[in-house]
Amino acid sequence: MLTKINTLSGYLYEYQKSVANPEDFWDSVAQQFYWRKTWDKVVEWNFENLDVKWFIGGKLNITENIFERNLFTLGEKTAIIFEPNDPNEPVRKLTYKELYEEVCRFANVLLANGVRKGDRVAIYMPMTPEAAIAMLACARIGAIHSVVFAGFSASSLADRINDAQAKMVITSDGNFRGAKTIEVKAVVDEALQSCTSVEKVIVLKRTNTPVQMQAGRDIWWHEAVQGGSVQNKAEEMDSEDMLFILYTSGSTGKPKGVVHTTGGYMVYTAYTFRNVFQYEPQDIFWCTADVGWVTGHSYIVYGPLLNGATVVMFEGVPTYPDVDRFWAVVEKHKVTHLYTAPTAIRALMAYGTEPIQKHDLSSLKVLGTVGEPINEEAWHWYYNHVGKGNCPVVDTWWQTETGGIMISPIAGVTPTKPGYATLPMPGIQPVIVDNEGRELKGNNVEGNLCIKFPWPSMIRTTYGDHERAVNTYFKTFKGLYFTGDGVKRDADGYYRILGRVDDVINVSGHRLGTAEVENAINSHPLVIESAVVGYPHEIKGQGIYAYVILDSAAKEHDPEKLKQSLLTTVTKVIGPIAKPDVIQFVSCLPKTRSGKIMRRILRKVAEKDISNLGDTTTLLDPTVVDEIIEGAGLRQ
Ligand code: WTA
Repeated sequence: MLTKINTLSGYLYEYQKSVANPEDFWDSVAQQFYWRKTWDKVVEWNFENLDVKWFIGGKLNITENIFERNLFTLGEKTAIIFEPNDPNEPVRKLTYKELYEEVCRFANVLLANGVRKGDRVAIYMPMTPEAAIAMLACARIGAIHSVVFAGFSASSLADRINDAQAKMVITSDGNFRGAKTIEVKAVVDEALQSCTSVEKVIVLKRTNTPVQMQAGRDIWWHEAVQGGSVQNKAEEMDSEDMLFILYTSGSTGKPKGVVHTTGGYMVYTAYTFRNVFQYEPQDIFWCTADVGWVTGHSYIVYGPLLNGATVVMFEGVPTYPDVDRFWAVVEKHKVTHLYTAPTAIRALMAYGTEPIQKHDLSSLKVLGTVGEPINEEAWHWYYNHVGKGNCPVVDTWWQTETGGIMISPIAGVTPTKPGYATLPMPGIQPVIVDNEGRELKGNNVEGNLCIKFPWPSMIRTTYGDHERAVNTYFKTFKGLYFTGDGVKRDADGYYRILGRVDDVINVSGHRLGTAEVENAINSHPLVIESAVVGYPHEIKGQGIYAYVILDSAAKEHDPEKLKQSLLTTVTKVIGPIAKPDVIQFVSCLPKTRSGKIMRRILRKVAEKDISNLGDTTTLLDPTVVDEIIEGAGLRQ
């Protein structure tokens, strides 16, 4: 287990050290891992053209660091506790040894089916141990995994498969999700009609949903692994070889494939897991995210397993079969660390404290949140009712691009403040800049959050399009990584994340680009144009508000039915998470003379705040605003 910070002065000391001499700092953290060959140089970097390398010349395999490094001491320890969707289905536990054997066996299956180092493999799976096994088996042989959240539509999946030119898809027959069974294999079949790179599909039998198996292409997981060897020698990877691609939304265009590499990602996720959560060997860590998101990658799979932790993997949803499911799982598995999203807390808050009182939550030691700003009410509820005032709340700010937690309290060490992610992790150098890029020094400042020095698990590129990564993250403010988030540093030097300052909406902790949702809406045959904005939503954090201009032919249709049909389109193009909460039909959008949509006004109307619309004189037709206000049922 990695060394860790234990006191506030210890944190301050480590932080100072990490800024004064980052090379020495990360060198000593990295030395705690197993490298087949150690690095020649700790870091080289250039933010102008995004060229960042960590532990240069180092050779390793991340799975050797999870398994071989620890097997001697951890072999019989539980690695994964699998809690199925249906609480009556038996719990499955895999020890480190068993997980190791499954990973090796499956790595051999990948090899036998033609997957080699550097090939891309798409994983579209339920939250079962096999999702982690598939990821780790890829890492074992040096294949690059691209996990796609299984709630995305066939067309989203196809886009991601095509962008990465994936050679294989690993999926299941179906997924259990609450009372529903989702026919996942059918989605893959549909997606693959527009993908030519995929040679094989491996299908896990989970729901017994009838599926079509295409001869020569589709293979059952259980048949493929049967009788297979549990010996597999890990591929030797360079520290900067790609470990995975994970697609995420930005303010423009299609989702981009964020690329993470091996050495730096390993060091940073393991380091932050151990420190932020103060994980100890007997603890049971439960992160409720899906492995389809970066939180699942870093804090269900890699970070915890690199520390020899026991993790709970939960297949279901917080309210099935009842609204006390989360608390029942905590009690059942004596969970010590619960890491979830504010949206889940708010949703469960709505049922009051009675579901909590039915369960013994005394095993809990640390509570974590991630994915979106947490409002103070939810923070207090989490702290007081879930943690009974005994468990520190770690509000962890980070991003798909950062790979690991960047700004967060260290549990029990950093004094917390509701709504604040508090202080940067060692090695992380945040700066706040105004819109002109001037650094706002000192405390009591508010502006754009940037990072001025590289950290080991930062994004290396966007797959297949390096320019895009440079333009998205390093062009807005010269010489800085721009996060896209607004932030405030208060009088104590504590950071409070204010939310996105770009055209990204954060719905229930899921990132969606406004352009992406607009494109989906615009693909409907009766839509001429649309504009999408986020607005405050009690449970989801942000909701999606869509202003839609219809074709004249739409007059003959019932508006309510049309709305339904738009929702169906968005579900088909992206997935149900992107469905607008409000659709308002308009005849015009507020555009400036240069043709730019004035989203500020649309946001105000969506927020139902029309008291201060600001300057509208630059609009091509200012009367549009009145129509929109009227149409929204608000009057000036
Ligand atoms: C937001 C999730 C406030 C933020 C790990 C960021 C947060 C985006 C927090 C990244 C937090 C994440 N407080 N906002 N603790 N954590 N965010 O890539 O806007 O899915 O830019 O990564 O979520 O979302 P992503």
